[in-house]
Amino acid sequence: RKAVSVPGLQNMRVQGEKITMLTCYDASFAALMDRCGVDILLIGDSLGMVCQGHDSTLPVTVTDIAYHTAAVARGNKKAAIVADMPFGSYGTPETAYQNAVQLIQAGAQMVKLEGGNWLAPTIKFLTERAIPVCAHLGLTPQSVNVLGGYKVQGKTDATAGLLKMEALAVQAAGASLLVLEAIPATLGKEVTDSLDIPTIGIGAGVDCSGQVLVMHDLLGVFPGRKARFVKNFMEGQTNIDAAVLAYVAAVKDKTFPAPEHCF
Ligand code: KIV
Ligand code: NA
Repeated sequence: RKAVSVPGLQNMRVQGEKITMLTCYDASFAALMDRCGVDILLIGDSLGMVCQGHDSTLPVTVTDIAYHTAAVARGNKKAAIVADMPFGSYGTPETAYQNAVQLIQAGAQMVKLEGGNWLAPTIKFLTERAIPVCAHLGLTPQSVNVLGGYKVQGKTDATAGLLKMEALAVQAAGASLLVLEAIPATLGKEVTDSLDIPTIGIGAGVDCSGQVLVMHDLLGVFPGRKARFVKNFMEGQTNIDAAVLAYVAAVKDKTFPAPEHCF
């Protein structure tokens, strides 16, 4: 297959081809996901929970993300690589730029940041300096101490309206991609329809331009409480390649997420 590029993701949105994304933290799984045709590998700060055993993503550092990004880049051939900017690494545009450069030099093509309106100047600052940005709205786990837990967002008219405005703001600032986490499926569709950049949902309904899952959740490895939007794709499969292929097929043909995975 052809290498997946940032403009290539936009082409997929225009053509109506669903985008598949999985988190990935090492070279062996990068090679596996790449050969299974996953479009985007995300070095998520979820690694703080699934790899390091913390109970939130807050302890993760830029050095941690860069280490895992370099490993993923060595295993990957064609997938696009997106690296999370961890908590505390993008408080100002200048610090965001310095830290994003570390992640791009480690092998990412794009960085992901959690937030909306307040991030617009930072998104503009990075994109002007040739660093593509993925924004992340809805349930933003780095804000767990503000949100008071990992809860569905955008359930009231007021919070849904705010989220729609923030989505437009990050797009206007130059974001190339938008992750939507744990919001009502109807809101996921409204936001997706209102934008001209691709949206990637995790608990945001089937109408997003693509889907993402944490690989440990897809494989049924993570022992914590299973979120509603998680599906264990190992069920009915005898090897990991088959589970990843089943995920890719289910996203592409819109059978995942099913209503039972949505809010
Ligand atoms: O860190 C992560 O794994 C993520 C995805 C769940 C979108 O941000
Ligand atoms: Na993350």
